[in-house]
Amino acid sequence: MEEVRVCLRREEDLSYDIRVGPGQLDRVADDLAARPVAARYLVLTDATVGELYAGELRRQLVERGLCAGYVEVRPGEESKSLAVLERVLSQMLAQRVDRGDCLLAVGGGVVGDLGGFAAGCYMRGIPFAQVPTTLLSQVDSSVGGKTAVNLPGAKNACGLFHQPARVYADVRALATLPEFELRSGLAEVVKYALIADEGFAAYLEENARSLLALEDEAATRTVAACCSLKAGVVERDERESGPRMILNYGHTIGHALEDISSYGLSHGEAVAYGMRCMSRLAGMTGMLSPSDQARHDRLLNAFGLATRPLDLDVDRVLAATATDKKARGGVLRLVVPTALGRVEVRDDVDRHLLRRAVAETLADPA
Ligand SMILES: NC(=O)c1ccc[n+]([C@@H]2O[C@H](COP(=O)([O-])OP(=O)(O)OC[C@H]3O[C@@H](n4cnc5c(N)ncnc54)[C@H](O)[C@@H]3O)[C@@H](O)[C@H]2O)c1
Ligand SMILES: [Zn+2]
Repeated sequence: MEEVRVCLRREEDLSYDIRVGPGQLDRVADDLAARPVAARYLVLTDATVGELYAGELRRQLVERGLCAGYVEVRPGEESKSLAVLERVLSQMLAQRVDRGDCLLAVGGGVVGDLGGFAAGCYMRGIPFAQVPTTLLSQVDSSVGGKTAVNLPGAKNACGLFHQPARVYADVRALATLPEFELRSGLAEVVKYALIADEGFAAYLEENARSLLALEDEAATRTVAACCSLKAGVVERDERESGPRMILNYGHTIGHALEDISSYGLSHGEAVAYGMRCMSRLAGMTGMLSPSDQARHDRLLNAFGLATRPLDLDVDRVLAATATDKKARGGVLRLVVPTALGRVEVRDDVDRHLLRRAVAETLADPA
């Protein structure tokens, strides 16, 4: 027997900048011309964002001789599939995108996840940059480098880590976002404050109105604060083993509600109910003081999040958390608030108390 060792060790600097502000979209082409990350750029978008923004960006890239092509998918989660991924890759090939080019994903989290994955596997990986146009994608999917498509019945089941080379978040693009989508993103914004930053929570309490009106300054400061908070967590835990788990605050119950409700709850709104359940639970056990619990819930009220009762069977909700549990070898691990801006990961939560907290929250959330 002979044994050959293949020695491979990787140490790479994958740092990148996220530019946040009003009017960023109009500066992308000039900035890429001045500070290139590749020779040319293939624009990937969905039909809605194509019409609103990406078509114009493509025009600006063509004008500067920087456009490698343009691919549009249908708006919606259905585009995060292997079938659509294959179509995107084939179109990239047909448009002669090569290894020196960069995929520029312009759109929400769907286009970002699909585009990141396509860039990560096309010709074994080409660079990737992002122009997130939903609040959710600006504050969440633009940080961390997770990319994926869904398999039948399994969300995000197939994907890879591929960090973007650059991100441009234009807060003015949020003005065209449907209210439903905006609120979904706001729930994630509130989540960051509640898990990691009391000062940011205080800022949101004071500036809820300006943020809801999408005023330039409030929106810019908020998106930048969220990216920075998520970056802080991700930097400590790029591959998601420990600390990154706190980003799942409200998501265990939230995902269960998304799965079983026929109300058309957005992801963020479902997470907002999940966060309310956790604050109530923490209040019951004395982990969270009554005044912090009140502030926690008032912050959700300020953004009109998860305020109406949901007529759902509590045992069905709890049963739907089983997928989360299975992933952790039968233990239900929950992120529980211990103060405003602080949470702990617990796997010893009393199920009767949890059941009571969920039941009470669904019946009387706000
Ligand atoms: N990679 C990550 O770390 C990460 C994190 C969170 C969520 N995600 C993924 O993100 C996806 C959800 O993202 P999303 O909420 O952005 O959804 P989305 O991409 O489907 O966008 C929502 C809708 O808004 C439209 N839209 C986008 N920008 C617009 C604008 N500026 N004006 C008007 N309409 C606009 C889109 O066409 C779409 O119809 C999910 O698939 C989720 O799994 C990924
Ligand atoms: Zn989320």
